[in-house]
Amino acid sequence: MAWSPDKTTVNSWNEWDPLRHVIVGRADDCHIPPEEPALDAKVPEDSDMRGQWGKRPQETIDRANELLDKFADQLRARGVKVDRPTPIDHSLPVTTPDFHTASQFGCMPPRDVLLTVGSEILEATMSYRCRWFEYLNYRPLMQQYWEEDPKFRHEAAPKPRLTDADYHPDYLSEKIGVEKRLQWAAEKFFVTTEEEPLFDAADVLRFGRDLVVQHGFTTNLKGIEWLRRHFPDHRVHTVNFPGDPYPIHIDATFTPLRPGLILNNPQRRLPDDQREMFHKNGWEIVDSAQPAHNQPPPLCYSSVWLSMNVLVLDPKTVCVEKSEVYQADQMDKLGLEVVEVDLRDAYAFGGGLHCSTADVYREGGCEDYFP
Ligand code: ARG
Repeated sequence: MAWSPDKTTVNSWNEWDPLRHVIVGRADDCHIPPEEPALDAKVPEDSDMRGQWGKRPQETIDRANELLDKFADQLRARGVKVDRPTPIDHSLPVTTPDFHTASQFGCMPPRDVLLTVGSEILEATMSYRCRWFEYLNYRPLMQQYWEEDPKFRHEAAPKPRLTDADYHPDYLSEKIGVEKRLQWAAEKFFVTTEEEPLFDAADVLRFGRDLVVQHGFTTNLKGIEWLRRHFPDHRVHTVNFPGDPYPIHIDATFTPLRPGLILNNPQRRLPDDQREMFHKNGWEIVDSAQPAHNQPPPLCYSSVWLSMNVLVLDPKTVCVEKSEVYQADQMDKLGLEVVEVDLRDAYAFGGGLHCSTADVYREGGCEDYFP
């Protein structure tokens, strides 16, 4: 029979409509990559990760995979279709005419790489050299969706060159100190320069017609302008969270739960002038609950605020990490049903429940929430 695509596989316009199909990452063969500018700027100064690189300990990989598999099963039990990436060999170096790095990162977390907007999945430019080829882990799925779905737009942003001109050398001295970092973040002086468009998909939140994008270490202003030109029917808004000394990926900082309601990290308040579009349209921005932990787990890039990195299943149901009791309690008070997911031992692989997933299909269309 002749090949002809015949169904809608890809459709997702926001972070909260009923989830029907999702990608969950895998921890296989994940590496702590060698030093490189944008990554070094992100690793906290007192982190146990500084100065070491190589494949992550196998027992941590196995444990993370066990949890990710269970998370996938929990989603399936709720009627969500789950796909998994096909890991490439992350121990291989990356060499282009412009840079070399001795290893890659992994196929976690998918949220960083894949941006789903309606019937499109866009592969982000990425901003770490070790993540330059990460889209390859998802190509078998992209190919499959493309063959099934006649409307699916598989897009890739221009691969960046990632030469030294992409990074401010000031950020690379060993001990800058958190005070200096906060000052720089407030001045919007980040590790990446404006040499060329750079963005990670996890710096973008989808609100129907509006895309809200964090300007920080992994997304520069040219990256945001690139998104604006790429999505001409959307309004693209730039946001900053000056309280974050390591601003990468918006999803442990600003978390929409349903139309009209957003959680904001109380240490990374959205500045007043950037709240206007939300307030004018009756949206409430509430402080998220405190994390349950004082420290991230070992060998983890992220902060304790992965507590608020929740996955919304529909406007009444939300997945919260099992140990994050204060966050779960807050959800309960906000009227959401909480699904507990045990995932903390996978945090070291790049993030929490939202990070570890990428949308393929949510019900619903493109609404205008900020008319
Ligand atoms: N920057 C966040 C924090 O450390 C972590 C965000 C992780 N998100 C992600 N999509 N990988 O608080």
